[in-house]
Amino acid sequence: MAYRENVTIYNHPLIQHKLSILRDVRTTDKQFRELVGEITMLMTFEATRDLPLEPVDVTTPMGIAHAHRLQGENLALVPILRAGIGMVDGILELIPAARVGHIGLYRDEETLEPHEYYCKLPVNIDHRLIIVLDPMLATGGSAVDAITLIKQHGGKKIKFMCIIAAPEGIEKLSAAHPDVDIYCAHVDEKLNDIGYIVPGLGDAGDRIFGTK
Ligand code: PRP
Ligand code: URA
Repeated sequence: MAYRENVTIYNHPLIQHKLSILRDVRTTDKQFRELVGEITMLMTFEATRDLPLEPVDVTTPMGIAHAHRLQGENLALVPILRAGIGMVDGILELIPAARVGHIGLYRDEETLEPHEYYCKLPVNIDHRLIIVLDPMLATGGSAVDAITLIKQHGGKKIKFMCIIAAPEGIEKLSAAHPDVDIYCAHVDEKLNDIGYIVPGLGDAGDRIFGTK
């Protein structure tokens, strides 16, 4: 299926390979956490392509290099609790100066509606590039509500990064927030009747934190 140009779907062999292990029911919690971090790190390369740079002169052993460095403190990562936490370190490894906020949302298992229980964002959120993190974009309700909340706090330039999406989630997020770029390692077939992505990988939060 073709999506709008603000949706990036990765088909890089390294990401696809790691995703195949991530999905596997036999993968341990430890491996699962490591793989979420590694896949996020690989996805970061494309998702940060437009990060602002500033010029810097560096003295090398041979002279002066007119180089560029990241305005790293401009970046805010906002994981959606719980599972989004698993993606944070993969980006911080590459951009340690990024600030980290948190949004707590859980899906009501009956209605599938998201409920907010926590929100703490970095200062000057209106000036930052914000990357919202959640491994799973299922119905899209959690991502839509998290981004609405960030906008209510002044956030303007927002991207959303997930590992597996359902087509329904991409449609809902694109319709609600057409200004938000979406980065997704893979789009799966569908949602099942209890709102889980099929074939997916099960419950990402439970697999990251070993709660089932
Ligand atoms: C999962 C997942 C997303 C959400 C996706 O979290 O991490 O946040 O469901 O579903 P949606 O697109 O239909 O909203 P969950 O609510 O299970 O909470 P948890 O991370 O605490 O396990
Ligand atoms: N949340 C998950 O963790 N997995 C799904 O498949 C859907 C929502």
